[in-house]
Amino acid sequence: MTLAAAQSQEILKPHLSIDGGHPLNGVLKVSGAKNSALVLMTASLLTDEPVELTNVPELTDISGMSDILSSLGVSVERSGKRVRLQAAKLSSAEPPYELVNSLRASFFSIGSLLGRLGHARVPLPGGCRIGARPVVEHIRGLKALGAVVNVEHGIVSAAVPGHVKRLRGASIVLDCPSVGATETILMAAVLADGISTIENAAQEPEVQDLANLLNQMGARISGAGGPVITIEGVKRLHGCRNYPVIPDRIEAGTFLIAAAITRSTLRVEPVIPDHLNVVLQKLRDCGCKLEIDDQGITIKPGTISAVDLTTQPFPGFPTDLQAPFMALMATAYGTSVISEKIYENRMQHVGELQRMGASIRLDGSTAIIEGVPRLSGAPVTGSDLRASAAMVLAALAADGKTQVSGLKHLDRGYDGIEAKLIGVGANVQRFKG
Ligand code: UD1
Repeated sequence: MTLAAAQSQEILKPHLSIDGGHPLNGVLKVSGAKNSALVLMTASLLTDEPVELTNVPELTDISGMSDILSSLGVSVERSGKRVRLQAAKLSSAEPPYELVNSLRASFFSIGSLLGRLGHARVPLPGGCRIGARPVVEHIRGLKALGAVVNVEHGIVSAAVPGHVKRLRGASIVLDCPSVGATETILMAAVLADGISTIENAAQEPEVQDLANLLNQMGARISGAGGPVITIEGVKRLHGCRNYPVIPDRIEAGTFLIAAAITRSTLRVEPVIPDHLNVVLQKLRDCGCKLEIDDQGITIKPGTISAVDLTTQPFPGFPTDLQAPFMALMATAYGTSVISEKIYENRMQHVGELQRMGASIRLDGSTAIIEGVPRLSGAPVTGSDLRASAAMVLAALAADGKTQVSGLKHLDRGYDGIEAKLIGVGANVQRFKG
Protein backbone atom coordinates (compact mmCIF):
# COMPACT_ATOMS: atom_id res chain seq x y z
CA MET A 1 0.00 0.00 0.00
CA THR A 2 1.31 3.45 -0.84
CA LEU A 3 1.82 6.00 1.92
CA ALA A 4 -1.00 8.16 0.50
CA ALA A 5 -3.39 5.17 0.48
CA ALA A 6 -2.43 4.26 4.05
CA GLN A 7 -2.98 7.86 5.14
CA SER A 8 -6.38 8.05 3.47
CA GLN A 9 -7.38 4.75 5.12
CA GLU A 10 -6.36 6.22 8.48
CA ILE A 11 -8.55 9.26 7.82
CA LEU A 12 -11.49 7.02 6.85
CA LYS A 13 -11.55 5.38 10.31
CA PRO A 14 -14.25 6.76 12.62
CA HIS A 15 -12.62 9.57 14.53
CA LEU A 16 -13.04 12.88 16.25
CA SER A 17 -11.27 15.80 14.66
CA ILE A 18 -10.41 18.31 17.37
CA ASP A 19 -8.96 21.73 16.70
CA GLY A 20 -7.28 22.49 19.99
CA GLY A 21 -5.79 25.35 21.88
CA HIS A 22 -9.03 27.31 22.42
CA PRO A 23 -10.35 28.24 25.85
CA LEU A 24 -13.73 26.81 26.83
CA ASN A 25 -16.51 28.29 28.91
CA GLY A 26 -19.95 27.37 30.18
CA VAL A 27 -21.49 24.36 31.87
CA LEU A 28 -20.73 20.69 31.27
CA LYS A 29 -23.52 18.32 32.26
CA VAL A 30 -22.58 14.99 33.78
CA SER A 31 -24.61 11.89 32.86
CA GLY A 32 -25.50 8.96 35.09
CA ALA A 33 -22.66 6.64 36.10
CA LYS A 34 -21.96 3.90 33.57
CA ASN A 35 -20.49 1.53 36.14
CA SER A 36 -23.48 1.97 38.42
CA ALA A 37 -26.13 1.70 35.73
CA LEU A 38 -24.70 -1.54 34.33
CA VAL A 39 -24.80 -3.28 37.69
CA LEU A 40 -28.18 -1.83 38.70
CA MET A 41 -29.56 -3.30 35.48
CA THR A 42 -28.38 -6.79 36.49
CA ALA A 43 -30.08 -6.35 39.87
CA SER A 44 -33.39 -6.53 37.97
CA LEU A 45 -32.75 -10.29 37.63
CA LEU A 46 -33.47 -10.64 41.35
CA THR A 47 -37.21 -9.98 41.15
CA ASP A 48 -40.15 -10.76 38.88
CA GLU A 49 -41.46 -7.21 39.33
CA PRO A 50 -40.41 -4.19 37.22
CA VAL A 51 -37.31 -2.20 38.13
CA GLU A 52 -37.29 1.32 36.70
CA LEU A 53 -34.05 3.26 36.49
CA THR A 54 -33.69 6.92 35.59
CA ASN A 55 -30.62 8.98 34.68
CA VAL A 56 -29.22 6.01 32.74
CA PRO A 57 -26.49 7.20 30.36
CA GLU A 58 -26.98 6.62 26.63
CA LEU A 59 -23.97 4.45 25.90
CA THR A 60 -23.10 1.43 23.79
CA ASP A 61 -22.30 -0.49 27.01
CA ILE A 62 -25.88 0.09 28.20
CA SER A 63 -27.17 -1.27 24.88
CA GLY A 64 -24.86 -4.26 25.33
CA MET A 65 -26.23 -4.94 28.81
CA SER A 66 -29.80 -4.57 27.50
CA ASP A 67 -29.02 -7.23 24.87
CA ILE A 68 -27.56 -9.58 27.48
CA LEU A 69 -30.56 -9.22 29.79
CA SER A 70 -32.96 -9.68 26.85
CA SER A 71 -31.14 -12.90 25.95
CA LEU A 72 -32.04 -14.18 29.44
CA GLY A 73 -35.71 -13.34 29.00
CA VAL A 74 -35.81 -9.93 30.66
CA SER A 75 -38.11 -7.41 29.05
CA VAL A 76 -36.10 -4.21 28.54
CA GLU A 77 -37.77 -0.94 27.57
CA ARG A 78 -35.50 2.03 27.01
CA SER A 79 -36.73 5.53 26.45
CA GLY A 80 -33.99 8.13 26.61
CA LYS A 81 -32.44 8.03 30.06
CA ARG A 82 -35.19 5.84 31.50
CA VAL A 83 -34.94 2.04 31.49
CA ARG A 84 -37.67 -0.33 32.62
CA LEU A 85 -36.61 -3.91 33.21
CA GLN A 86 -38.81 -6.82 34.12
CA ALA A 87 -37.52 -10.34 34.69
CA ALA A 88 -41.02 -11.82 35.12
CA LYS A 89 -39.82 -15.22 33.97
CA LEU A 90 -36.25 -15.99 33.02
CA SER A 91 -35.83 -18.15 29.92
CA SER A 92 -32.10 -18.77 30.37
CA ALA A 93 -29.40 -18.58 33.01
CA GLU A 94 -26.59 -18.59 30.44
CA PRO A 95 -25.73 -15.30 28.75
CA PRO A 96 -23.96 -15.84 25.40
CA TYR A 97 -20.16 -15.66 25.23
CA GLU A 98 -20.01 -13.00 22.48
CA LEU A 99 -22.01 -10.58 24.60
CA VAL A 100 -20.30 -11.27 27.95
CA ASN A 101 -16.85 -11.12 26.42
CA SER A 102 -17.34 -7.57 25.21
CA LEU A 103 -18.82 -6.32 28.49
CA ARG A 104 -17.05 -7.37 31.66
CA ALA A 105 -19.73 -6.08 34.04
CA SER A 106 -22.17 -8.61 32.58
CA PHE A 107 -20.20 -11.37 34.36
CA PHE A 108 -21.44 -9.87 37.63
CA SER A 109 -24.94 -11.13 36.69
CA ILE A 110 -23.80 -14.56 37.94
CA GLY A 111 -24.58 -13.37 41.49
CA SER A 112 -28.16 -12.33 40.77
CA LEU A 113 -28.89 -15.36 38.54
CA LEU A 114 -27.67 -17.68 41.26
CA GLY A 115 -29.65 -15.83 43.94
CA ARG A 116 -32.85 -15.93 41.92
CA LEU A 117 -32.67 -19.31 40.16
CA GLY A 118 -30.15 -21.31 42.17
CA HIS A 119 -28.01 -21.91 39.07
CA ALA A 120 -26.14 -19.97 36.40
CA ARG A 121 -23.63 -20.58 33.61
CA VAL A 122 -21.70 -17.48 32.68
CA PRO A 123 -18.71 -17.35 30.32
CA LEU A 124 -15.51 -15.96 31.82
CA PRO A 125 -15.16 -12.37 30.70
CA GLY A 126 -11.52 -12.83 29.67
CA GLY A 127 -8.66 -10.41 30.08
CA CYS A 128 -8.47 -7.03 28.49
CA ARG A 129 -5.81 -4.66 27.26
CA ILE A 130 -5.30 -2.97 30.60
CA GLY A 131 -4.63 -6.17 32.56
CA ALA A 132 -5.56 -9.77 33.35
CA ARG A 133 -8.66 -8.97 35.44
CA PRO A 134 -9.36 -12.31 37.13
CA VAL A 135 -12.69 -13.22 38.79
CA VAL A 136 -11.35 -15.55 41.47
CA GLU A 137 -12.71 -13.36 44.26
CA HIS A 138 -16.22 -13.51 42.78
CA ILE A 139 -16.01 -17.30 42.61
CA ARG A 140 -14.58 -17.64 46.14
CA GLY A 141 -17.46 -15.56 47.47
CA LEU A 142 -20.12 -17.62 45.68
CA LYS A 143 -18.56 -20.83 47.00
CA ALA A 144 -18.61 -19.45 50.55
CA LEU A 145 -22.35 -18.83 50.10
CA GLY A 146 -22.80 -22.54 49.38
CA ALA A 147 -22.66 -22.70 45.59
CA VAL A 148 -20.81 -25.45 43.81
CA VAL A 149 -18.74 -23.70 41.18
CA ASN A 150 -16.83 -25.24 38.28
CA VAL A 151 -14.84 -23.52 35.60
CA GLU A 152 -14.65 -25.56 32.42
CA HIS A 153 -14.21 -24.69 28.77
CA GLY A 154 -14.25 -20.99 29.62
CA ILE A 155 -17.61 -21.13 31.37
CA VAL A 156 -18.27 -20.65 35.08
CA SER A 157 -21.07 -23.00 36.16
CA ALA A 158 -22.51 -22.32 39.58
CA ALA A 159 -25.36 -24.16 41.29
CA VAL A 160 -26.82 -24.39 44.75
CA PRO A 161 -26.95 -28.09 45.72
CA GLY A 162 -30.07 -29.66 47.25
CA HIS A 163 -33.71 -29.10 46.42
CA VAL A 164 -34.19 -25.76 48.26
CA LYS A 165 -31.88 -23.94 45.80
CA ARG A 166 -31.20 -21.17 48.28
CA LEU A 167 -27.73 -19.87 49.10
CA ARG A 168 -26.86 -19.56 52.77
CA GLY A 169 -25.34 -16.57 54.55
CA ALA A 170 -21.58 -16.63 55.14
CA SER A 171 -18.65 -14.48 56.24
CA ILE A 172 -16.46 -13.56 53.31
CA VAL A 173 -13.12 -11.79 53.50
CA LEU A 174 -11.95 -10.53 50.13
CA ASP A 175 -8.25 -10.78 49.31
CA CYS A 176 -8.47 -7.47 47.46
CA PRO A 177 -11.34 -4.96 47.54
CA SER A 178 -12.64 -5.86 44.08
CA VAL A 179 -15.60 -3.75 42.95
CA GLY A 180 -17.07 -6.49 40.78
CA ALA A 181 -16.61 -9.22 43.40
CA THR A 182 -18.27 -7.07 46.08
CA GLU A 183 -21.22 -6.40 43.74
CA THR A 184 -21.52 -10.04 42.64
CA ILE A 185 -21.50 -11.31 46.22
CA LEU A 186 -23.91 -8.59 47.34
CA MET A 187 -26.43 -9.61 44.67
CA ALA A 188 -26.07 -13.29 45.55
CA ALA A 189 -26.35 -12.75 49.30
CA VAL A 190 -29.52 -10.61 49.35
CA LEU A 191 -31.72 -13.66 48.75
CA ALA A 192 -29.60 -16.08 50.82
CA ASP A 193 -30.80 -17.75 53.99
CA GLY A 194 -29.19 -15.95 56.94
CA ILE A 195 -26.68 -13.19 57.46
CA SER A 196 -23.62 -12.56 55.29
CA THR A 197 -20.72 -10.22 55.81
CA ILE A 198 -18.21 -9.01 53.25
CA GLU A 199 -14.97 -7.79 54.80
CA ASN A 200 -12.38 -5.79 52.85
CA ALA A 201 -15.29 -4.85 50.59
CA ALA A 202 -14.85 -2.32 47.79
CA GLN A 203 -15.96 1.12 49.02
CA GLU A 204 -16.66 2.67 45.61
CA PRO A 205 -19.80 4.84 45.33
CA GLU A 206 -21.17 2.43 42.72
CA VAL A 207 -21.28 -0.32 45.38
CA GLN A 208 -23.24 2.02 47.61
CA ASP A 209 -25.60 2.84 44.74
CA LEU A 210 -26.26 -0.87 44.20
CA ALA A 211 -26.93 -1.42 47.92
CA ASN A 212 -29.34 1.56 47.94
CA LEU A 213 -31.31 0.15 45.01
CA LEU A 214 -31.40 -3.34 46.55
CA ASN A 215 -32.60 -1.89 49.88
CA GLN A 216 -35.38 -0.08 48.02
CA MET A 217 -36.28 -3.46 46.54
CA GLY A 218 -36.64 -4.90 50.04
CA ALA A 219 -33.09 -6.08 50.79
CA ARG A 220 -31.48 -5.56 54.20
CA ILE A 221 -27.96 -4.30 53.59
CA SER A 222 -25.92 -2.09 55.89
CA GLY A 223 -22.38 -0.75 55.76
CA ALA A 224 -22.09 -0.38 51.95
CA GLY A 225 -19.58 2.37 51.19
CA GLY A 226 -17.41 1.15 54.06
CA PRO A 227 -15.05 -1.84 54.33
CA VAL A 228 -17.54 -4.21 56.00
CA ILE A 229 -20.96 -4.87 54.48
CA THR A 230 -23.64 -6.86 56.31
CA ILE A 231 -26.48 -8.47 54.40
CA GLU A 232 -29.46 -10.03 56.11
CA GLY A 233 -30.97 -12.34 53.52
CA VAL A 234 -34.66 -11.99 52.63
CA LYS A 235 -36.99 -14.48 50.87
CA ARG A 236 -37.95 -12.22 48.00
CA LEU A 237 -37.38 -8.77 46.56
CA HIS A 238 -39.95 -6.52 44.95
CA GLY A 239 -39.65 -3.99 42.14
CA CYS A 240 -38.67 -0.35 42.33
CA ARG A 241 -39.89 2.77 40.53
CA ASN A 242 -37.80 5.70 39.31
CA TYR A 243 -34.49 4.87 40.92
CA PRO A 244 -31.98 7.55 39.79
CA VAL A 245 -28.45 6.42 38.91
CA ILE A 246 -25.77 8.51 40.66
CA PRO A 247 -23.81 11.03 38.54
CA ASP A 248 -20.72 9.61 36.86
CA ARG A 249 -17.74 10.62 38.99
CA ILE A 250 -15.27 9.59 36.29
CA GLU A 251 -17.01 11.68 33.63
CA ALA A 252 -17.15 14.60 36.09
CA GLY A 253 -13.43 14.19 36.79
CA THR A 254 -12.70 14.07 33.06
CA PHE A 255 -14.57 17.35 32.54
CA LEU A 256 -12.79 19.05 35.46
CA ILE A 257 -9.51 18.01 33.87
CA ALA A 258 -10.78 19.37 30.52
CA ALA A 259 -11.11 22.75 32.23
CA ALA A 260 -7.66 22.49 33.81
CA ILE A 261 -5.89 21.38 30.63
CA THR A 262 -7.42 24.21 28.56
CA ARG A 263 -6.90 26.68 31.47
CA SER A 264 -10.62 27.51 31.25
CA THR A 265 -13.19 28.37 33.87
CA LEU A 266 -15.97 25.78 33.58
CA ARG A 267 -18.86 24.56 35.64
CA VAL A 268 -19.44 20.82 35.95
CA GLU A 269 -22.75 19.49 37.29
CA PRO A 270 -24.25 17.46 38.85
CA VAL A 271 -21.37 16.19 40.96
CA ILE A 272 -21.32 14.51 44.37
CA PRO A 273 -18.06 16.04 45.66
CA ASP A 274 -17.45 13.25 48.20
CA HIS A 275 -17.14 10.84 45.29
CA LEU A 276 -14.13 12.79 44.02
CA ASN A 277 -12.34 14.04 47.15
CA VAL A 278 -8.83 12.89 46.23
CA VAL A 279 -9.19 14.06 42.63
CA LEU A 280 -10.41 17.48 43.77
CA GLN A 281 -7.45 17.74 46.14
CA LYS A 282 -5.02 16.90 43.31
CA LEU A 283 -6.63 19.59 41.15
CA ARG A 284 -6.22 22.12 43.99
CA ASP A 285 -2.63 20.97 44.57
CA CYS A 286 -1.74 21.56 40.94
CA GLY A 287 -3.15 25.08 40.92
CA CYS A 288 -6.94 25.04 40.35
CA LYS A 289 -9.46 26.92 42.45
CA LEU A 290 -12.70 25.03 43.06
CA GLU A 291 -16.03 26.47 44.10
CA ILE A 292 -18.26 23.67 45.32
CA ASP A 293 -21.98 23.99 45.94
CA ASP A 294 -24.99 21.68 46.20
CA GLN A 295 -25.30 21.20 42.44
CA GLY A 296 -21.78 21.05 41.16
CA ILE A 297 -18.30 22.51 40.92
CA THR A 298 -16.92 25.61 39.22
CA ILE A 299 -13.25 25.16 38.43
CA LYS A 300 -10.86 28.08 37.83
CA PRO A 301 -7.41 26.89 36.82
CA GLY A 302 -4.33 29.02 37.51
CA THR A 303 -0.82 28.09 36.48
CA ILE A 304 -0.75 24.30 36.48
CA SER A 305 2.19 22.75 38.36
CA ALA A 306 3.26 19.12 38.52
CA VAL A 307 1.86 16.85 41.25
CA ASP A 308 2.53 13.16 41.85
CA LEU A 309 -0.14 10.51 42.23
CA THR A 310 -0.66 6.81 42.79
CA THR A 311 -3.87 5.03 41.85
CA GLN A 312 -5.66 3.18 44.63
CA PRO A 313 -9.05 1.65 45.38
CA PHE A 314 -11.68 4.17 46.54
CA PRO A 315 -11.33 6.53 48.36
CA GLY A 316 -7.88 6.76 46.72
CA PHE A 317 -7.18 8.26 43.30
CA PRO A 318 -9.23 6.26 40.72
CA THR A 319 -7.34 4.29 38.10
CA ASP A 320 -10.02 5.38 35.60
CA LEU A 321 -8.75 8.99 35.84
CA GLN A 322 -5.05 8.13 35.67
CA ALA A 323 -4.73 8.57 31.88
CA PRO A 324 -6.78 11.83 31.81
CA PHE A 325 -4.69 13.27 34.66
CA MET A 326 -1.50 12.30 32.86
CA ALA A 327 -2.62 14.36 29.86
CA LEU A 328 -2.93 17.34 32.23
CA MET A 329 0.48 16.69 33.78
CA ALA A 330 1.99 16.60 30.28
CA THR A 331 1.20 20.33 30.11
CA ALA A 332 2.18 21.25 33.71
CA TYR A 333 5.17 23.17 35.02
CA GLY A 334 7.70 20.69 36.39
CA THR A 335 8.04 16.94 36.64
CA SER A 336 5.38 14.61 38.02
CA VAL A 337 5.42 10.90 38.83
CA ILE A 338 2.26 8.86 38.21
CA SER A 339 2.14 5.25 39.46
CA GLU A 340 -0.55 2.83 38.35
CA LYS A 341 -1.20 0.28 41.08
CA ILE A 342 -4.49 -1.32 40.01
CA TYR A 343 -3.79 -2.61 36.49
CA GLU A 344 -0.49 -3.97 35.20
CA ASN A 345 -0.87 -2.70 31.65
CA ARG A 346 -2.59 0.65 31.88
CA MET A 347 0.06 2.88 30.36
CA GLN A 348 -0.76 2.51 26.68
CA HIS A 349 -1.71 6.16 26.41
CA VAL A 350 1.92 7.13 27.07
CA GLY A 351 3.04 6.39 23.51
CA GLU A 352 0.10 8.34 22.06
CA LEU A 353 0.73 11.34 24.32
CA GLN A 354 4.36 11.23 23.19
CA ARG A 355 3.12 11.47 19.59
CA MET A 356 1.57 14.77 20.63
CA GLY A 357 4.86 16.08 21.99
CA ALA A 358 4.56 14.98 25.63
CA SER A 359 7.81 14.21 27.41
CA ILE A 360 7.20 10.99 29.38
CA ARG A 361 9.54 8.27 30.56
CA LEU A 362 8.03 4.94 31.48
CA ASP A 363 9.44 2.61 34.11
CA GLY A 364 7.09 -0.36 34.40
CA SER A 365 3.80 1.01 35.73
CA THR A 366 5.33 4.34 36.71
CA ALA A 367 5.45 7.31 34.37
CA ILE A 368 7.74 10.29 34.87
CA ILE A 369 6.24 13.25 33.07
CA GLU A 370 8.11 16.44 32.30
CA GLY A 371 5.59 19.10 31.43
CA VAL A 372 5.98 20.84 28.07
CA PRO A 373 4.69 24.34 27.22
CA ARG A 374 2.43 23.05 24.42
CA LEU A 375 1.24 19.74 22.99
CA SER A 376 0.82 19.55 19.24
CA GLY A 377 -2.04 17.96 17.31
CA ALA A 378 -1.40 14.57 15.69
CA PRO A 379 -3.35 11.46 14.65
CA VAL A 380 -3.71 9.30 17.79
CA THR A 381 -5.67 6.24 18.88
CA GLY A 382 -7.20 5.55 22.26
CA SER A 383 -6.51 1.94 23.21
CA ASP A 384 -9.19 1.73 25.90
CA LEU A 385 -12.02 3.84 27.26
CA ARG A 386 -10.04 6.12 29.56
CA ALA A 387 -7.01 6.29 27.26
CA SER A 388 -9.39 7.62 24.57
CA ALA A 389 -10.64 10.25 27.00
CA ALA A 390 -7.04 11.26 27.71
CA MET A 391 -6.49 11.73 23.97
CA VAL A 392 -9.54 13.98 23.71
CA LEU A 393 -8.30 16.09 26.62
CA ALA A 394 -4.79 16.38 25.19
CA ALA A 395 -6.33 17.35 21.83
CA LEU A 396 -8.40 20.14 23.41
CA ALA A 397 -5.17 21.72 24.67
CA ALA A 398 -2.93 20.96 21.70
CA ASP A 399 -1.82 23.28 18.98
CA GLY A 400 -3.62 22.48 15.72
CA LYS A 401 -5.75 19.50 14.72
CA THR A 402 -5.79 16.11 16.41
CA GLN A 403 -7.51 13.11 14.94
CA VAL A 404 -8.64 10.82 17.79
CA SER A 405 -9.49 7.25 16.71
CA GLY A 406 -10.67 4.45 18.98
CA LEU A 407 -14.19 5.84 19.28
CA LYS A 408 -15.70 2.44 20.00
CA HIS A 409 -14.00 2.71 23.38
CA LEU A 410 -14.98 6.32 23.97
CA ASP A 411 -18.63 5.67 23.11
CA ARG A 412 -18.76 2.88 25.71
CA GLY A 413 -18.36 5.39 28.51
CA TYR A 414 -18.97 9.01 27.51
CA ASP A 415 -22.56 9.94 26.71
CA GLY A 416 -22.64 12.48 23.84
CA ILE A 417 -19.13 13.71 24.51
CA GLU A 418 -18.68 15.82 21.40
CA ALA A 419 -22.05 17.57 21.81
CA LYS A 420 -21.15 18.38 25.40
CA LEU A 421 -17.73 19.72 24.45
CA ILE A 422 -19.11 21.71 21.51
CA GLY A 423 -21.60 23.22 23.98
CA VAL A 424 -18.73 24.81 25.91
CA GLY A 425 -16.98 26.11 22.79
CA ALA A 426 -14.70 23.25 21.76
CA ASN A 427 -14.07 22.70 18.09
CA VAL A 428 -14.91 19.01 17.67
CA GLN A 429 -16.23 17.14 14.66
CA ARG A 430 -17.12 13.46 14.42
CA PHE A 431 -16.31 11.53 11.27
CA LYS A 432 -18.17 8.24 11.08
CA GLY A 433 -15.66 6.62 8.70
C1 UD1 B 1 -14.45 -1.81 38.19
C2 UD1 B 1 -14.85 -0.77 37.17
C3 UD1 B 1 -13.64 -0.27 36.38
C4 UD1 B 1 -12.54 0.17 37.33
C5 UD1 B 1 -12.24 -0.89 38.37
C6 UD1 B 1 -11.24 -0.44 39.42
C7 UD1 B 1 -17.11 -1.52 36.64
C8 UD1 B 1 -18.02 -2.10 35.63
N1 UD1 B 1 -15.83 -1.37 36.26
O1 UD1 B 1 -13.95 -2.94 37.46
O2 UD1 B 1 -14.05 0.81 35.55
O3 UD1 B 1 -11.36 0.42 36.58
O4 UD1 B 1 -13.46 -1.27 39.06
O5 UD1 B 1 -11.70 0.72 40.05
O6 UD1 B 1 -17.51 -1.18 37.72
N2 UD1 B 1 -8.78 -8.50 41.08
C9 UD1 B 1 -8.21 -9.69 41.47
N3 UD1 B 1 -9.04 -10.78 41.64
C10 UD1 B 1 -10.39 -10.71 41.45
C11 UD1 B 1 -10.95 -9.47 41.04
C12 UD1 B 1 -10.12 -8.39 40.87
O7 UD1 B 1 -7.00 -9.79 41.66
O8 UD1 B 1 -11.05 -11.71 41.59
C13 UD1 B 1 -7.91 -7.32 40.85
C14 UD1 B 1 -7.93 -6.92 39.38
O9 UD1 B 1 -7.00 -7.66 38.63
C15 UD1 B 1 -7.55 -5.46 39.46
C16 UD1 B 1 -8.16 -5.02 40.80
O10 UD1 B 1 -8.43 -6.19 41.52
O11 UD1 B 1 -6.15 -5.34 39.56
C17 UD1 B 1 -9.41 -4.19 40.65
O12 UD1 B 1 -10.37 -4.95 39.98
P1 UD1 B 1 -11.94 -4.81 40.27
O13 UD1 B 1 -12.15 -3.87 41.41
O14 UD1 B 1 -12.49 -6.18 40.36
O15 UD1 B 1 -12.41 -4.11 38.94
P2 UD1 B 1 -13.78 -4.34 38.18
O16 UD1 B 1 -14.88 -4.56 39.14
O17 UD1 B 1 -13.59 -5.32 37.09
